[in-house]
This record gives sequence, structure tokens and C-alpha cells, in this order.
Amino acid sequence: MDSAALGRLNDLPRARLGCWPSLFQQAERLSEELGCEIWLKRDDAQPPALVGNKLRKFELVIGRAQAEGRDTLVTTGALQSNSARVGAAAAAAVGMRSVLVLSGQEPEPVSANLLIDHLVGADVRYAGDVDWNYLNTAVNDIVSELHRKERKPFSAPVGCSSPLGSLGFALAFLELHQQLQITGLEPSAIVHTSTSGGTHAGLLVGRAVADSDVDIIAVDVGAIYSDPAASIAGLAHEAASLIDFDLKLAPEDLRITTDQLGPGYAVPTEAGNEAVRLMARTEAILLDPVYSGKGFGGLVSMIRSGELEGPVVFWHTGGQVALFDPEFAAPFQP
Ligand SMILES: Cc1ncc(COP(=O)(O)O)c(C=O)c1O
Repeated sequence: MDSAALGRLNDLPRARLGCWPSLFQQAERLSEELGCEIWLKRDDAQPPALVGNKLRKFELVIGRAQAEGRDTLVTTGALQSNSARVGAAAAAAVGMRSVLVLSGQEPEPVSANLLIDHLVGADVRYAGDVDWNYLNTAVNDIVSELHRKERKPFSAPVGCSSPLGSLGFALAFLELHQQLQITGLEPSAIVHTSTSGGTHAGLLVGRAVADSDVDIIAVDVGAIYSDPAASIAGLAHEAASLIDFDLKLAPEDLRITTDQLGPGYAVPTEAGNEAVRLMARTEAILLDPVYSGKGFGGLVSMIRSGELEGPVVFWHTGGQVALFDPEFAAPFQP
């Protein structure tokens, strides 16, 4: 363990909004059904408006914004973005305002994450049918607009995968590392869902700080980068430099699978939906068809093909709010 780097991580300004450490538990019925010892890291078990992996990132982003006296968070994502919803909720919880730029048009009625965005008082701007790069540019435009109005904005990109946000997952790795030491568990791998890469990048930084060699496998369900390994390794290096940590990591060191992407981001797949049903039936734990269902589908597929042996940790990154959107709930109608 690099205790100096750990100290610098712990010293980062942080808005304490979640219940940490998140639960770490063995999934007994699931393990029995799949014939493989599976443990769950439960970032889905958090306050409802703040639930999911993005809370770890926004705790640092909001912490920094508060330390700098900013008054408005500007962030972005898809129409049903978990990240944007957590950003808006985290801002509300500390008395900041928020502006969200979301792709798509306002649906009628609004539901799920989008409903929460409105409930927590976000100023929601609909950007129409645009790509991720457009959304990040739109955030910069709104930041300029707010500066002109003499407000004090602080921005976070798609997925809150800035170098600072990613460090939330370096802290997360260290949290799990401690739980592994307490339980005496030595997993063959940690598997998690990945899109904008901040979760993966942060876990890689945390693993290096802890001097651990556990495998980290990202199930990419977004395909937003043309070269994900290079982009995420680059993000990990930028994040590490914020805490003056000399990260030794090459793109070839990353393990990323795109097997579960199917037709594309936010398009449900049979394997992902089967994973949602399996987790709900065996453990009464909710996944979602866009992120964690596909991610867990990846783990199931690696177990069934013999590529992975237990014990293995599935990092449940949340996303279950999407089940309350009629579009994503459709495949699960009785
Ligand atoms: C539920 C859920 N899981 C996983 C991810 C992927 O995390 P990252 O964007 O850090 O790769 C997201 C991103 O939006 C998410 O909402």
C-alpha cells in the first residue's frame, strides 16, 4: 500500500452523501445456481435519489465545487442518465443548483431518472438527437452562459468521468480492499459495467495504490470510445496525477469486453434481460437492462464458458431506477 498516495486521496474535499462502506455480501443462491462463488459490492444500496456508482464520483466533484465556492453544477448524459440524476440530487443535497443537458426530447410523461431530475429541482435542457461529444460541448456553452450571468458554475462531463470524478473509484477500490482483508477473500476478478470509463480508471488507480494484482474486468455497454483501452488508461493516468501518484499502466494491461453490447448503448439484449431476471429471482436484487444487467450478463457468460472461476466479485453499479421507465420495463411485463 502506498500510504502517502492513500493520504492524498483521503484528503480530497468530499461531500459525504452516501452510506459507506457499501455492502459487500456473498450471493448464496446465485452462486449455487451458477456453480461459482459470487460476491456482490452493493453500490445499488444507497439513498434512492443518489443510488449507484456515480455517487462516488459526485462526492468528490461536489466536494471540490463547494471548496471553490461554486453555486451550480452543470452536467450531462442520456435522457435517462443515472449520472445526471445523481449529479442533480447531490447538488440539491448540499444546496447547490444544477443544470442538466440531456439528449433526446422531453417525453410525456416523465419517469424514472428524469422524474427525479425534476423533483430535485434541476434545470433540464433537452438537446435532441445528439452524440456524447455534442453533450460535453453543450456543457461548456452552459458554463459560459452562467458565467455571463455572474453565477459560479462547476461542470462534470458525461458519466462524471473527469479525472477527479474517477478518483471516487480509487477510493472505492480501497474500500473493497479493506472488506476483502476482513473477509479473507481472494477473488479471481472484479467484474463491473463500464461506459464512460471513470469507474474502470478509478479502480485501476486504487488497485495500484493498494499494490493489489486482482484482475479487473470491464464489461463495456456503451462503446463510446474508438479505442477504449487507450482512453481509459489515459484517464487513469490523469486521475493518478491529481494525487501525485506514479501510475504504471499500459493500455494492454486493461481487460475490457464488448461481448454484451449487442446492437448498442441502451438497447436491451436477451442476455442482459436474462441476467436481470436471474438476479431478481435468486437474490431479490434489482439490475437494469441498460447497464448492470448487461454487465452481470457478461459475468454469467464468462462463468458459463469457463473463462472465470470463483470466487469472483460483481460490482453492482446501480441503474435499477431505469426499471421504472416504461420503455425499459416493457420486456419484464408479466
Ligand atoms: C448503473 C451504471 N453502471 C455503470 C456505469 C458505467 O460507469 P462509467 O461511466 O464510469 O464507465 C454507469 C454510467 O452511467 C451507470 O449508470
